[in-house]
Amino acid sequence: MTAFPADRPAPEQAEQARAALTALRHEVAKAVVGQEETVTGMVVSLLCRGHVLMEGVPGVAKTLLVRAVSTALSLDHKRIQFTPDLMPGDVTGSMVYDSRTANFEFHEGPVFTNLFLADEINRTPPKTQAALLEAMEERQVTVAGEPSPLPDPFVVAATQNPVEYEGTYPLPEAQLDRFLLKLVVTLPDRGHEVDMLGRHAHGFDPGDLDAAGLRPVAGAEDLRAARAAVAATSVTPDVLAYIVDICRATRSSPSLQLGASPRGATALLRTSRAWAWLSGRDYVTPDDVKALAKATLRHRVSLRPEAELEGATSAGVLDGVLASVPVPG
Ligand SMILES: Nc1ncnc2c1ncn2[C@@H]1O[C@H](COP(=O)(O)OP(=O)(O)OP(=O)(O)O)[C@@H](O)[C@H]1O
Ligand SMILES: [Mg+2]
Repeated sequence: MTAFPADRPAPEQAEQARAALTALRHEVAKAVVGQEETVTGMVVSLLCRGHVLMEGVPGVAKTLLVRAVSTALSLDHKRIQFTPDLMPGDVTGSMVYDSRTANFEFHEGPVFTNLFLADEINRTPPKTQAALLEAMEERQVTVAGEPSPLPDPFVVAATQNPVEYEGTYPLPEAQLDRFLLKLVVTLPDRGHEVDMLGRHAHGFDPGDLDAAGLRPVAGAEDLRAARAAVAATSVTPDVLAYIVDICRATRSSPSLQLGASPRGATALLRTSRAWAWLSGRDYVTPDDVKALAKATLRHRVSLRPEAELEGATSAGVLDGVLASVPVPG
């Protein structure tokens, strides 16, 4: 096994962080019925300092989920509805004249938070999208030549409606690659929906998570310890090669016009390690890679128009790739 050089946190501290992050999933479930995969995806991205794209029709608890996760982690969160007239400064902040001091001062925009919910990012023009993507990449905002660092953690959860409305600005492929994971928030199954409605019938108020019994169970300290533990997980050369083979197979798939980039391969390594650690191990298995491959790669590949016409989906093609690439023994 190749151990990566990293400061390994004290074992008790890492254990405590893992217990706290496991408890987080139970805590969020007090408000959100089902959607476990999405919750796990958000935890993985917090561990990897990555951003998530959430795709789902309206009303499937995307906003509720982000609020519940930030409450359970005692993190600050802010939300912006992206609209066609939103300006870059509405996201990042702007210089405001202060008549007392006769100076311009920087007023922080809503992006200065831990968990930033960017609702319907595809409804805002490219200039405003670019301002957010720049903040995501650089973890700072530069106004009038002055950089202001964003807090840590800083994770953007951007939502995108799968239905292509008129007047939307789909994110270009090169920018989709900036999101660590794409989480597809699906409609609940019948049982979950009945359960959800039952809670409402018994007085659950989504506006009052406190009353629902949701408490902070983990914090920034746990995240720091957890990240250090994730960075200390080991990966064999076989597993590294498996990740590369999966990405290479997407590049030669006849259904895809664009396969996963090397950045996609590094993303899959990061998410697999986080998942391995969350699952209680300090080494990555091929199954960890498989578990995160679709969420990590689905938005980094694009279908050929012919394949799309025939009803192929990125997820379906990735299933085929995972089935065809030999798994190291
Ligand atoms: N899985 C669920 N568990 C609990 N409540 C749910 C669930 N799905 C939907 N709801 C209920 O539906 C309401 C709407 O959810 P929410 O506003 O979070 O959806 P959304 O996906 O953000 O929608 P939009 O795309 O319109 O912003 C929630 O406040 C909650 O009452
Ligand atoms: Mg919402």
